[in-house]
Parts: sequence; structure tokens; C-alpha cells
Amino acid sequence: MPRSINFLPIIVIALVLLFTVACEGPAGTDGLDGAAGVNGADGADGNVTCLVCHSEANIVDNQIEMARSQHGVGEWINYADYYGGGCARCHSGNGFIEWVTTGEVATNVTVPEAWSCGTCHGLHATFDSTDYALRITAAAAATFDATVTLDAGENNNLCVACHQARRGSADYWDGSADSVEVGGHDGPHHGPQSNILLGNLGATSTGTANTQHLAAGCVGCHMTEAVGDGVNAEGGHTFWPTVEACQVCHSSAVDFDTFGGQTSVAAKLVTLGGYLETVGIIDSAGHLHGGTYTAAEFQAWWNYVVITEDRSLGVHNPLYTTTLLDEAITLVE
Ligand code: HEC
Ligand code: HEC
Ligand code: HEC
Ligand code: HEC
Ligand code: HEC
Ligand code: HEC
Repeated sequence: MPRSINFLPIIVIALVLLFTVACEGPAGTDGLDGAAGVNGADGADGNVTCLVCHSEANIVDNQIEMARSQHGVGEWINYADYYGGGCARCHSGNGFIEWVTTGEVATNVTVPEAWSCGTCHGLHATFDSTDYALRITAAAAATFDATVTLDAGENNNLCVACHQARRGSADYWDGSADSVEVGGHDGPHHGPQSNILLGNLGATSTGTANTQHLAAGCVGCHMTEAVGDGVNAEGGHTFWPTVEACQVCHSSAVDFDTFGGQTSVAAKLVTLGGYLETVGIIDSAGHLHGGTYTAAEFQAWWNYVVITEDRSLGVHNPLYTTTLLDEAITLVE
């Protein structure tokens, strides 16, 4: 016999259940926060801490040092518009920036500016701990001879850009002629420090550079940690060399006359100057007399003027300096 199923109670129960599920009461209060998780491992340090260089104290120190420096005084910027852009490249801050940026100074710099921070510093390149945002770090062809590369290493190449000779002995003497004619303004031009450091400006001893102090670079001696307070501060952005720099390699150094080097070079310059005056190529103030001279006289004078204008009395390259002076003396004594 077929069973008849009464669906009504089942539907009622199902609807009741549906209602009960669909109509929730208000939410209960939140449970307590879980315990904090353990800290993650530290990440790797970034490349550089900006404040090592950019702290206010450090920048103010550099500003004070710079103000005391000959660069900060900017006394010689007047030469910038003397002969047009050719001088402005090294004799004015704005001329230098134009030259670094465009490769030339297009017109006379009629309002030459002294050095400022931005003369030497431009934009960062890598932001690593040795990126000083310098305008120049690469080696470049020498001004006196484009076939010679001047490389004093990285940051020193900034100094090299300006502190180098403008002319070499080959501009006046081909190395074989018996006599040489010079005018009163001839010569390598002031500031041949890079050429002496690298040993490449003498009229004799070509090819024997020595470079005893190349490892120190310019900044290794001239921009060590600043020492001393007041107007006599040296190092850092005064750009003045420090005895502390010499002591890094010569522990016994007490002044720049280490091993009597400067005394010896000064004496040789006096001896050579005496001979050159007798020959008549310079006057008693050391100035060149225009005229025609023998090749030997010219070479001796060239070495004399190069070492005089270097102004370190041999410190930039002791052995090269002594050699050039000894050879010059032998040529005219
Ligand atoms: C390659 C860079 C460079 C160029 C170009 C240059 N100079 Fe100089 N000049 C120097 C430097 C650096 C000194 C400072 C040398 C030192 O301190 O030993 C200097 C020094 C001088 C001095 C010596 C100042 C003094 O009282 O003893 C005179 C003068 C001078 N320059 C004139 C000129 C003239 C004029 C021109 C253009 C015809 C010129 N310079 C182009 C780099 C340059
Ligand atoms: C004649 C070029 C020159 C001028 C002008 C100059 N600097 Fe520098 N500066 C350098 C060189 C080169 C270095 C890198 C020295 C090194 O290699 O140790 C440097 C390094 C620095 C550093 C990093 C090292 C430190 O001292 O903490 C700071 C910061 C700095 N300069 C700021 C300045 C400020 C600010 C000025 C202006 C007041 C200025 N510089 C002007 C050439 C210059
Ligand atoms: C090794 C020294 C040094 C360190 C480290 C350094 N700077 Fe500089 N920075 C300089 C010098 C020097 C200048 C140029 C002089 C000035 O403007 O005071 C400069 C200039 C700048 C300038 C203006 C020129 C540009 O490149 O745009 C900025 C922005 C700057 N730095 C940001 C930073 C930041 C961000 C950091 C950290 C990631 C940093 N620097 C780390 C030395 C440093
Ligand atoms: C833009 C060209 C230029 C650059 C770059 C430059 N110098 Fe000079 N420097 C000169 C000139 C020109 C003078 C002569 C004085 C002046 O500032 O008017 C001079 C003067 C000096 C003096 C002082 C000489 C004196 O008569 O007492 C020293 C030391 C010196 N520079 C070292 C450096 C060092 C180290 C660097 C690199 C960090 C450097 N210079 C970069 C052009 C430059
Ligand atoms: C071994 C250390 C050393 C190195 C490297 C060095 N210098 Fe010098 N520099 C000196 C000393 C020391 C003097 C002489 C200071 C004195 O007798 O009062 C000097 C003198 C100078 C002078 C003349 C200052 C004046 O008024 O008499 C200039 C400019 C100069 N150096 C620039 C440079 C440049 C640019 C470089 C790199 C091409 C350089 N120096 C490399 C130690 C150094
Ligand atoms: C980076 C190291 C270094 C620094 C910094 C340094 N020197 Fe030297 N110095 C040398 C080396 C290397 C020689 C060559 C030694 C040799 O040939 O026996 C030398 C040689 C000399 C000589 C010639 C010695 C001789 O008998 O021929 C004199 C002088 C001298 N240094 C003076 C100085 C002065 C002054 C300073 C500081 C302004 C200085 N040096 C900074 C490494 C350095």
C-alpha cells in the first residue's frame, strides 16, 4: 500500500530553521588582541649615510675652511677676462663650470666669480661612500701636450684640471736645434704642480717620471682632516698641506722639510739661478729676458722655471725635482 507523506510539518520546520539562521542577533564584543609576533631580522645597511657629509656642522666647517683658502679669496680671478675664455677656464668659478659642462669657455667672462662649493661640486653619480659629487674625477689629456694623459687618480683629477702647465718645452724647442728664441712672457705658465707630481714637464730627463708621491695624490696631502683652530687651520677645505699627511708615510716628519728636501732644493735653485743670470737669460728677480739662447741654456732655464713655479720646493716629486735641477746645473755651470 502506498504511503502518503504529509509534507506540511517538514516545510514548517525548514522555514523555522531558515529564519533562525538568517536573522542573526547583534555582533558580540571583539576578542582580545593576539600577542605581537617576533621582530623580523634587520635588513642590510644602505650604501651610505647622507649625514656623514651633509650634517650642518660638517658643512659649516667646510665653509669656514674654504673662506680661509686662497681659492675662497679668489684674488686671481682678475686674469679671467685678460685674454678671453682661455684664462677664465682656470681663473674663475663660473668659467670652470662652463668649461667642464661644454668643453670650452665661449666668450670672455666679464664678471668672473670666485670659487664656491658649486665650482668643484656638482651632482652625485652613485651615492656610494666615495661619491663626493665632484665635477671631475676622470683623467684627461694634458693642456701642454694632448698626447700626454694626466692621471693623478680619481678626486685628484679635479685639481689637475687647473693646476697644470699650459705649455711644454717642445712649444719652443724641437729637441734638436742648437739655438732657441724666446720672448719675455714665454714659459710653462704658473701652477704646474700636476706635471711635477707626474714627472712630465722637464726639458731634460724626459721619460723618467719617478712619481714618488703620486700615491698621496693632491688631496692626500692638501685635504686631510683639518687641523688647528683659528686662521692657521690647515687641511680640509683650506687646501693647505698638513705635516700630519707626511707622517702617514714618514713617521719622523716634523715639517715639510722632511729629510732636508726643501732646503736642498732651495739651495740648488739659488745655484742654478746664479748661472742663468750670468748667461743673461734671467734678471736678478728671476724674470726671463727675451732673446736667442743655446739649447743648453734654454733647457737649464726651462727646468728652473718649472721647479720655481711648482712652489713645493721638491715635495711634489723629490727625486724628479733634484734630477732636473742637477741636470740643468751641469748644462750651464
Ligand atoms: C690650465 C689652467 C690655467 C689656465 C688656462 C690659465 N691659468 Fe693662470 N694660473 C693657473 C693656476 C692654477 C695658477 C696658480 C698657480 C699656483 O698657485 O702656484 C695660476 C696663476 C696665474 C698667475 C700668477 C699670479 C701671481 O700673482 O703669481 C698669472 C699672472 C696668471 N695665472 C695669468 C693667466 C693668464 C693671463 C691666462 C690666460 C692667458 C691664464 N693664467 C690661464 C691656472 C691657469
Ligand atoms: C677646489 C675644489 C673644491 C671646492 C671649492 C669645495 N670642495 Fe668640497 N671637496 C673637494 C674635494 C676634492 C673633496 C674630496 C676630498 C677627498 O677625496 O678626501 C671634497 C669633499 C667634500 C665633502 C666630503 C668630505 C667632508 O669634508 O666631509 C663635503 C661635505 C664638501 N666637500 C663640501 C663642500 C662645501 C660645503 C664647499 C663650499 C664651502 C666645498 N666643498 C668646496 C673639492 C672642493
Ligand atoms: C661622501 C660625502 C657625501 C655623502 C655620503 C652624501 N653626499 Fe650629497 N653631496 C656631497 C657634496 C660634497 C655635495 C656638494 C656640496 C654641497 O652641495 O654641499 C653634495 C650634494 C648633494 C646634493 C645636491 C646635488 C645633487 O646631487 O643633486 C644632494 C641632493 C645630495 N647631496 C643628497 C645626498 C643624499 C640624499 C645622500 C645620502 C643618500 C648624500 N647626498 C650623501 C657629499 C656627500
Ligand atoms: C678651477 C680651477 C682650480 C681647481 C679645480 C683647483 N684649483 Fe687650486 N687654485 C687655482 C687658482 C687659479 C689658484 C690661485 C689663487 C686663486 O684662487 O685666485 C689656486 C690656488 C691654490 C692653492 C693656494 C696657492 C697659494 O697661493 O697659496 C692651493 C694649495 C691649491 N690651489 C690647491 C688645490 C687643490 C689641492 C685642488 C684640488 C682639490 C685645487 N687646488 C683645485 C685653481 C684651481
Ligand atoms: C706629498 C704631499 C703633497 C702632494 C702629493 C701634493 N702636494 Fe702640493 N704641496 C705640498 C707641500 C708640502 C707644499 C709646500 C708648502 C710649503 O712649503 O709651505 C705644496 C705646495 C703646493 C702649492 C703651492 C702653495 C704655495 O702657496 O706655496 C700648490 C698650488 C699645490 N701644492 C698644489 C698641489 C696639487 C694640485 C697637487 C696634486 C697634483 C699637489 N699639490 C700634490 C704637499 C703635497
Ligand atoms: C703616501 C705615502 C707618502 C706621503 C703621504 C708622503 N711621502 Fe714622501 N715619500 C714617499 C715615498 C714612497 C718616497 C720614496 C722613498 C724612496 O724612494 O726610497 C718618498 C720620498 C720623500 C722624500 C725624498 C727622500 C729621499 O731621500 O729621496 C722627501 C723629501 C719626502 N718624501 C717628503 C715628504 C713630505 C714633506 C711629505 C708631506 C708633505 C711627504 N713626503 C708625504 C711616500 C710618501
